[in-house]
Amino acid sequence: MSHTVLITGGAGFIGAHLARQVLEQDDRVRILDNLHPQVHGVHGRPDYLPADAELVVGDVRDPDAVRKALVGVDRVVHLAARVGVGQSMYEISEYTSVNTVGTSVLLEALLDHPVERLVVASSMSVYGEGLCLGPSGTPVPAVERTRADLESRRWEPHDAAGRQLTSVATPETKPPALSSVYALSKYDQERLCLLFGATYQVPTVALRFFNAYGPFQALSNPYTGVLAIFAARLLNGRAPMVFEDGEQRRDFVSVHDVAHACLLALSAPDAPGAVINVGSGESSTVNAIAHRLARILGRDAITPQVTGRFRLGDIRHCFADLSLAEHLLGFRPAVSLDQGLTELAGWLEGQVAVDADKVEAATAELSARGLTG
Ligand code: UD1
Repeated sequence: MSHTVLITGGAGFIGAHLARQVLEQDDRVRILDNLHPQVHGVHGRPDYLPADAELVVGDVRDPDAVRKALVGVDRVVHLAARVGVGQSMYEISEYTSVNTVGTSVLLEALLDHPVERLVVASSMSVYGEGLCLGPSGTPVPAVERTRADLESRRWEPHDAAGRQLTSVATPETKPPALSSVYALSKYDQERLCLLFGATYQVPTVALRFFNAYGPFQALSNPYTGVLAIFAARLLNGRAPMVFEDGEQRRDFVSVHDVAHACLLALSAPDAPGAVINVGSGESSTVNAIAHRLARILGRDAITPQVTGRFRLGDIRHCFADLSLAEHLLGFRPAVSLDQGLTELAGWLEGQVAVDADKVEAATAELSARGLTG
C-alpha cells in the first residue's frame, strides 16, 4: 500500500532529500513549509525540491494550515523548526514559539487526524557536552565548561578535580544537558511527540540528528552549520574562522544518510517510542574539516584561521554511538566524509552569490550580546 507523507519544514535541505527518497519508493509527499527568508531568501519554491513533491506554504503554528496539510496524510515527519543555537539565545520567544508551540499545534491537529507513524527531528544539542569518561573509565555526569574555563582557554572538559576527561561516542542514555534555548526547544519537541504517541497510540520515533551537511544546505543562512559557513567563506576567497583551538570534535553526517534514517524510522517495526541517534559513525575535528574542505574545493592556498575565540554554550566534543540506530532501524551510514565532502564541493561549484558578510554580522550580533569571547 502506498502512503502519503507530510514533511513539515520539508523545503529545507534535509526535507528535500527525504522527499526524493520517499517519492522513489512510490509514496506521495506533501511539504508544509513557511519558506523562512533566513533560510530561503525571497525566491519562492526552492529549485531543488522534487517536482512531484506538493508544497503547501504555511506556518506550523497555524492550526488551519496544519489541518489542511494533513488531509489524506497517513505518515508525518516533523522537521519544522528554527535551528540557530546562538540566535536562539536572544530570539527566545520566536524559537520557543516555532519549535515548542508549533509542535503542540501539530499534535492537536493529529488528535483529529490520527496517523500510522510520526517521526520527529530532535538534535544532538540535547546532550550538551558529549559523554565523558573519568580517569577510571566511568562516565562523568553533567560535564560543563564554564565561561571562566573558556576565558582561560581551558578548552577540554575536566572533572571537579581538574583532571582532563576522555570523550567517547555518546549513546541515547546520556542524560540531557540543555544549554541553549534551541536545545531546550528540541527536547520539548521530542518529549511532546513521544508523550503524545504513547498517550494516543500513535507510533512515534524521535531522531537525534548530529551535524548534518550536504547539497542544498542554506549557504546564505549565517546560523547554518560550520561546513556551510566554511564553504561560503572559502568560495569568497576568505579563510574559515576556526573557534577555540579547532580540536573540538563533531560527527558530520551526510544529508543522504539523515534522510535515509528518517525513511527507515517511518516503517521500522520496533522503533516507536524510541529516541535514536543519527550520525556518521566517524568524528572529525573542526581543524581537519576546514583543511579537508579547502583542499577539496581547490582552495588549499587559504589557510584556516584559528582564532582562539569561542561561543558561549558551544560544546567541546560530541559524536554519536549508533548501536541503537543499527539495532532499531537497521541504519548504517553509507556516505563517508570524503564522499560527502566531494559531493558537497561539486554542488558548491554551481553556487553563486554567497554572502559571507552575513556570517560576520551574525558573529558580531553574538559578540554584542556577550555570547562570544
Ligand atoms: C549546533 C547544535 C546542533 C545544530 C547545529 C546547527 C549544539 C551542541 N548543537 O551544533 O544541534 O543542529 O548547531 O544549528 O548546540 N565553528 C567554527 N567556526 C565557525 C562556526 C563554527 O569554528 O565559523 C565551530 C564551532 O565552535 C563548533 C563546531 O564548529 O565547535 C560546530 O559548530 P556548528 O556547525 O555551529 O554546530 P554545533 O554547535 O556542533
